[in-house]
Amino acid sequence: MTEWWDTAVIYEVYPRSFSDADGDGVGDLRGIIDRMPYLASLGVQGLWLTPFQRSPQVDQGYDISDYCDVDPLFGSLDDFDEMLSAAHGHGLRVLVDIVPNHTSCEHPLFLAALASPPGSPERSMFHFSPGRGPGEGEAPNNWISVFGGPAWHRAHPASTVDTDWYLHLFSAAQPDWNWENPAVTEYFDGVLRFWFDRGVDGIRIDVAHGLFKAPGLPDSPTVPTVIDGLRSNPLAMDQEPVHEVYRRWRRLADGYTPPRLLVGEVNLEPERAARYTRPDELHQTFAFAFARLGWDAEAWMTAGRKLDQARRSIGGDPSWALENHDLVRTVSRFGGGLRGALRARAALVALLGLPGAAYVYQGQELGLPEVDVPLEERADPMWHQGGVSRDGARVPIPWAAAPSGTHGFSPSAGTAGSSRPWLPVPEGWGELSVEAQAADASSTLSLFRAAAARRAELHATGVFSARESATWSLEAAGLLSCRRSGGVTVLVAMGDDAVRLPAGELLFASAPVVDGFLPADAAAWVRTG
Ligand code: BGC
Repeated sequence: MTEWWDTAVIYEVYPRSFSDADGDGVGDLRGIIDRMPYLASLGVQGLWLTPFQRSPQVDQGYDISDYCDVDPLFGSLDDFDEMLSAAHGHGLRVLVDIVPNHTSCEHPLFLAALASPPGSPERSMFHFSPGRGPGEGEAPNNWISVFGGPAWHRAHPASTVDTDWYLHLFSAAQPDWNWENPAVTEYFDGVLRFWFDRGVDGIRIDVAHGLFKAPGLPDSPTVPTVIDGLRSNPLAMDQEPVHEVYRRWRRLADGYTPPRLLVGEVNLEPERAARYTRPDELHQTFAFAFARLGWDAEAWMTAGRKLDQARRSIGGDPSWALENHDLVRTVSRFGGGLRGALRARAALVALLGLPGAAYVYQGQELGLPEVDVPLEERADPMWHQGGVSRDGARVPIPWAAAPSGTHGFSPSAGTAGSSRPWLPVPEGWGELSVEAQAADASSTLSLFRAAAARRAELHATGVFSARESATWSLEAAGLLSCRRSGGVTVLVAMGDDAVRLPAGELLFASAPVVDGFLPADAAAWVRTG
């Protein structure tokens, strides 16, 4: 049995930077409503919205203080309902982001915990623990946070009586829930039902491999290793009981008609990540196999094979992702400039040709590069705490070609009293704008639309189908090849020279194929079987 998501292309909307309808410099739900015709024109099947729930915005919304309300910065629940029905009216499904590993230090349950004494039931919703050393002035263990610095914060730094610390794997404004406490499980059942009852089609689960920690929170014997760019402490992630949560959520999601989609952000090696998509757990986890690789055919082949091997042992189609709001834009990752742009186009076409689902990030369809956001304008807590900034991939979308203001991101920008966008839109981005690219048949936007339409057509005619397996190989001169079991081969020319394509019907290419040769830095889909 296949579901819509098995072969879907899902577009990630980062609401802060998508479209600002009220002119306060931050994107909002009404901006998404206004741009719904654009979203529908892309040819994708669904939208994933990163957090718009109530939040002090310390981690740009990944610190949620009310999981069942909309932050006034983005609008209201009524706006959400209108956005959802507009999306559905265009045949687009909508996923919302759920953050179950941690909350905001302004969540009422955390405030109640802070106001309650050590050992109280209120504190047992989180990981409170007395410190070590003289005056219990040292953290309870040696864990460090993903964003850098210790993973513990004193509950009441000035108190000599209350010497509890609380655990935060991310910033101190993001205390971790204690999933050993059944009240937390029940609380999240309610959160899921709230959104599913409202009609959302699925959820993206933030740090889905988190939630449970090693019993007793022991010291880490090693310095945490970096997996996929994030510091990962094996004692704080990927603990066995988390799978029971996803079995429970799967039953809950399957109880709806139609069933709701569960996609997890699982930053683990493929063989561990695959365990999250066992038949009674999540439907998908993002396949980040290529998300941090450079333009290197051999590395892609090895990663592709590893992923396919893990998948074969468990099942489940991969859900490819090359970009998101945490990753460096592909144009820049693949070398920048014209060459980087060509490679990013090729990678996008390759992504849409691979078997499984594909997630694309707003601006990827425009070929936006990473922006070197001026130091004083950087907003990412990871920058302030750990020296790594994700701001460069979060810059507002340029909509209008006019070489001034915010390129149409905010309507009133440039007029007296209007707000500047929360991150500056670079000068010169008019060329990359939706308006400019929509009018240019050779633009990245036009290529994306054509590729998405071709993909849909190939699915409709049975040339592409769900559950195809992939065989990765490396042909001569840096030609990466992925042969789908249905008979189509996806090829990416990652070497310096043009390469001869295998015999067969050319279905799609990111650049003109001349006399059977695919130029360097291009990708093609060829029906070979
Ligand atoms: C999100 C990040 C966020 C972190 C903490 C993630 O992996 O994608 O943007 O900072 O979780 O919630």
